[in-house]
Amino acid sequence: MADAATLSRRNFLNTVVGALGAVITGVIAVPVAGYFLDPALRGKAGTASWVKLTSMDQVAGSPTAFTIAAEKINGFMKENVQATIFAWVENGKPVAMTNVCTHLGCPVAWTPNDSEFHCPCHGSIFDKEGNVVHGPAPKSLPRFDTKVENGDLYVMVV
Ligand code: FES
Repeated sequence: MADAATLSRRNFLNTVVGALGAVITGVIAVPVAGYFLDPALRGKAGTASWVKLTSMDQVAGSPTAFTIAAEKINGFMKENVQATIFAWVENGKPVAMTNVCTHLGCPVAWTPNDSEFHCPCHGSIFDKEGNVVHGPAPKSLPRFDTKVENGDLYVMVV
């Protein structure tokens, strides 16, 4: 049979071992939980942001292609992306439109002779507004939201 001093020592050791176990678990669990939760806490995947396209003195009355490079963060994935965007001034306001055909994603080209965008892959044609003139493209070329700050043109990229 154990005496009171032995039980007290056993209880003390159990408490110390339990406390050390809790500390070790916390030391390991907090960084692991942070690793898995951090992307979710940083915001939604594909958050939209303004990206500088060019300076406004480079933007003319007819569509001109500009290339942007941006870092896209989607959860744990971080990738550098490039995109070509047409920009021009229409009724005194900047317009920015994708160059990605809505059929299968080929890059469209502006043809100033007929004031249309032509897709070289399957022959889709879009007017200056981005509307489909000739298929197989199923829908219009989307435009980007734009803003001008300090003489620079920015587009909203998702
Ligand atoms: Fe443009 Fe097919 S990808 S018409």
